[in-house]
Parts: sequence; C-alpha cells; structure tokens
Amino acid sequence: MKPVGKLLCATGIVAGVLAFFWKDPFKPESLSGARVLLTGASAGIGEQMAYHYARFGAEIVLTARREAVLQDLQGKFFTMKWHKRRVGDGDGPFVSLLFLLSTGGLDYLVLNHIGVTRFQMWAGDVEYTRWLMQVNFFSYVALATAALPTLEKNTGSLVVVSSLTGKIPTPFTTSYSATKFALDGFFSSLRHELIMQKRNVSITLCILGLIDTDSALENTRGKVHLTASPAPEAALAIIRGGATRVPEIFYPWWLQHVCYLWALFHNDGDEVLRSYYNYSSP
Ligand SMILES: NC(=O)c1ccc[n+]([C@@H]2O[C@H](COP(=O)([O-])OP(=O)(O)OC[C@H]3O[C@@H](n4cnc5c(N)ncnc54)[C@H](OP(=O)(O)O)[C@@H]3O)[C@@H](O)[C@H]2O)c1
Repeated sequence: MKPVGKLLCATGIVAGVLAFFWKDPFKPESLSGARVLLTGASAGIGEQMAYHYARFGAEIVLTARREAVLQDLQGKFFTMKWHKRRVGDGDGPFVSLLFLLSTGGLDYLVLNHIGVTRFQMWAGDVEYTRWLMQVNFFSYVALATAALPTLEKNTGSLVVVSSLTGKIPTPFTTSYSATKFALDGFFSSLRHELIMQKRNVSITLCILGLIDTDSALENTRGKVHLTASPAPEAALAIIRGGATRVPEIFYPWWLQHVCYLWALFHNDGDEVLRSYYNYSSP
C-alpha cells in the first residue's frame, strides 16, 4: 500500500475508534423540570428554542413584546408549565426575571432577543446605534447581573446568543456587529472572573451564522450570497451548549474553523468575505 493509502487507513481507524467511544455529553433528561427564562421567544430561533425546551420538560418563562403572539404559543404548549410575560425595550425583562427569582428560582437564563436590525450601509444614525446597544447589549448585562446570585445558588447557566458578526466584522452590520462584539467582550471577561472566583455559573456564548428566520431572510434578501441554516437546528445547538456548559458553540459547526482561518489570514480573507455581499456603487 502507498504511504497516502496507509495514512488514510490509519485516519479512518482512529476516527472509527473515537466514534465508538464517544459519548454524547448532552442529556436531554437533565432539562426536565429545569427553570428557564428565555427572551425573544415570540419568533425565529427563540420560538424554536421554546418548542425544544417544552419537549424536554423544562419549565419556561417566555418573554417578548407582542403578547398576542405569546398567547398563540400558549395554545401549542398546552401540556407544559409555562408563563408568558410582555417585555419591552426598557425595564420590561426585569418583570419576568423578578417574577422567576421570587417564585422558586432559575436554572437557565437564555438571552436571545434583538432590536430591529438594519442590514444596510452605515448612514450615520448614531441614535439608532445607541438604542440598539441598549436592546442588544445593556439589557443582557442588566438581566445577567440580576440573575447571577440565583444562578450561582442553583449551579445554573447563562446562555448568550451572538453571531459570527460578533467575531468577524461583516458589511451592512455596523451597529449590530458592534453590539455582538460587546457581548463577547463582556461575557467572555465575566466567564474568566467567575472561574477565578470559583463561582459555578457557566456562560455559553453562541456564535451563529445566517439562520433562516423570517427577519434574517427579509433583511438579507438579494444582499448576500450565503445559504441560511435551519432555525430548529440552531435552537437545539444553543440548548445543547447551555446544558453541557461549554464556553462557546458555533452553528453551523464549521464556523469555528472560519474564525480560526480569519484570525490567521484576515488580510487576505477580507476580500473573499466581501465577495459574499452584493453591492453596486450608486
Ligand atoms: N437569524 C439569523 O440569521 C441570526 C444569525 C446570527 C445570530 N442570530 C441571533 O439569534 C438571535 C435570534 O435571532 P432571530 O433571527 O430569531 O430574531 P427574530 O426572529 O427577529 O426574533 C427576535 C425576537 O426578539 C424580540 N424583540 C424584537 N425587538 C425587541 C425589543 N426591542 N425588545 C425586546 N425584544 C424584542 C422579538 O419579539 P417581539 O417583536 O414580540 O418583541 C422576537 O421574539 C439574536 O440574538 C440574533 O442576533 C440570528
């Protein structure tokens, strides 16, 4: 056999042995009865996470601004214990969180909501950026801060939904990308501090690529040459990441390699990256 053949055979055998001994660390039954606060649950990935958590038997509190949509979801979850809360831009999320903290605690805080995203060239609207920072970043910091003591008591988990644009800057996402980079900076630093203080709360940062939610597809239509991945799978990847207490998850999985490559070669990679975005100069 040629050396290449031997190498392929050896790789195959090693992969086979690893696959045989590999045990999935995710135990869905661990979520049965888990107390979850999930933000941005009325649509998209949040809605899909709500279905998964319900299927796994978690007790969930869903938050969003549109109460009527949460009412519709209630019909679908008729077997599950749940509460709905209306959440707005300001202090609203605290209403749900305080409710949970006062009625038996919290095991998972899943921060997923975002304000309306403009997928376009920077047009100079500083006020919009300030507002988006409030919704996408400061509200996450405030909610996590309020929940930390209870999560610590329950050896709980903080799950923060972010984006590839929070690792690699991309066109048309100036303000959004800034909010997601801020999440990485804050929560990755906080993770260090919790470990240094031996406080047993996990923080999982979720790095997602383009996902086929209505809002994302509408925003990006005609502007990108990218294929969107399915929201139910993205939702499950986030839930698995939180339940297995890993520091980061990437969905789809190969985004992690994209990030490594970009870190090594981003001067050359930037031009390739821009080729995935559609823009004709005026
Ligand atoms: N879809 C993608 O391609 C993609 C890619 C990377 C990362 N992500 C991340 O995944 C998460 C979910 O994205 P998605 O596409 O599922 O979003 P989505 O479908 O637009 O849903 C956003 C959710 O946030 C709520 N929301 C909207 N404005 C709000 C506000 N001002 N205050 C509080 N809540 C508000 C919405 O409900 P109401 O309108 O009822 O409030 C809705 O439940 C986000 O963190 C996003 O950054 C998504």
